Amino acid sequence: MLKVDRVTKKFGGVVAIKDVSFEVKPLEIFALVGPNGAGKTTLFNIITGVIKPTSGKVYFKGEDITGLSPVKIVRKGIARTFQNIRLFNSMSVLENVLIGFEKSYEYNYFEAMFRFPRFFKQERIHKEKAFEILRYLGIEKYADYNAKSLSYGNQRKVEIARALATEPDLLLLDEPAAGMNPKETDELADTVFRLREEKEKTILFIEHDMKFVQKIADRVLVLDYGEVIFEGKPADMMKNERVIKAYLGDIDVEG
Ligand SMILES: Nc1ncnc2c1ncn2[C@@H]1O[C@H](COP(=O)(O)OP(=O)(O)OP(=O)(O)O)[C@@H](O)[C@H]1O
Ligand SMILES: [Mg+2]
Repeated sequence: MLKVDRVTKKFGGVVAIKDVSFEVKPLEIFALVGPNGAGKTTLFNIITGVIKPTSGKVYFKGEDITGLSPVKIVRKGIARTFQNIRLFNSMSVLENVLIGFEKSYEYNYFEAMFRFPRFFKQERIHKEKAFEILRYLGIEKYADYNAKSLSYGNQRKVEIARALATEPDLLLLDEPAAGMNPKETDELADTVFRLREEKEKTILFIEHDMKFVQKIADRVLVLDYGEVIFEGKPADMMKNERVIKAYLGDIDVEG
């Protein structure tokens, strides 16, 4: 599904990503972990076209997508959420999700301006679809609420809803459990499983919560200072000496 091939990213003198390679298989739930500043978000930014790698390639479904614009990459079927929630605060929850449909708008600008019948048809279909996604994530009752007024955990769900509106095959989640309480984290784990079983999504996620990683990830890639120090099963990660060293005193491995 996704192949990252010998990717390096330098910011001036800082090597944020160093010769990183890995593959995510279809329907896999794949975790990207590592201490703060390890390069996880940078890797997401490279995959989604926000920044270009200094060297190396990214392939999606066998196609080279390196350096394509973020919009083109969304159209190919990759969507993401952000570590720092990026919702439009002045808009309702529903409107925030509707933005996700922008990429698939079939009518053109002039049609929209003159509000041809097709425009209304599209808008209605998108609203129905947006509601369906909100229902799926259990937040449809907040549809008309201002996005900013929701709890942190629910705002993260709205971000997921907006990403789902673009109908991705691969969903990238940057610290989805951050700021969630234990109940919300459990629900999130369920949601991720359901997205795979019921919606056939492949999921690549970044997370510091090791309990969450152990619970849902099929495989894990550990980065430290931009380098891969471990790739394998979550249970083996905790026994790996390099991983323990990288995390020593940094996090509670018990979760
Ligand atoms: N646009 C940028 N310009 C310069 N340096 C950057 C830029 N983006 C990231 N970096 C640097 O690259 C390194 C990796 O940062 P990144 O945000 O990818 O880490 P991370 O693993 O996501 O960390 P965290 O767990 O804290 O989110 C850091 O040293 C960071 O300061
Ligand atoms: Mg990050």
